[in-house]
Amino acid sequence: MATISISYDCLTPESLSPPDSELIARALEARTNAYAPYSHFRVGCAVRLSDGRIFCGSNQENNAYPSGLCAERVALFAAHNDLRGAWITDIALVGGAGTDIDEEPVFPCGACAQVLLEFESPEHAVNILCAGSNRVLKLTGATSLLPFGFGK
Ligand code: THU
Repeated sequence: MATISISYDCLTPESLSPPDSELIARALEARTNAYAPYSHFRVGCAVRLSDGRIFCGSNQENNAYPSGLCAERVALFAAHNDLRGAWITDIALVGGAGTDIDEEPVFPCGACAQVLLEFESPEHAVNILCAGSNRVLKLTGATSLLPFGFGK
């Protein structure tokens, strides 16, 4: 029997590094643009590239439900559309119903993890910050989220 183990840091918001705090702040800001009239669950995401640029996204729902898109893919597709030779270094995610984000971290859904897996540079594992107001889980590499991602 083979085993896969996943390592992660469990941090308090106060103990984050300034760049991690900044990226989460950008995700919180992006969350204010969420369009979630159906689920009322608002998600914000921020993606940092190796050249320092940050792309943000929020969930965008639609009356024809499957036509909507998660915050992570809004941000990831925007970043990947304008890579200019850079690569994705970090991604931060926040979510919650109502005005405040959840106390516990929220994690990317499988479809978003699959997209991140494909966009991750083979040489540089992405830092993944899943943030709640009480604690932040920091994972390294998209395979931490999706060890058996699809690949042809
Ligand atoms: N959602 C995200 O934006 N990211 C995820 O990883 C999972 C879920 C959105 C989709 C939908 O608009 C709302 O959260 C409730 O599922």
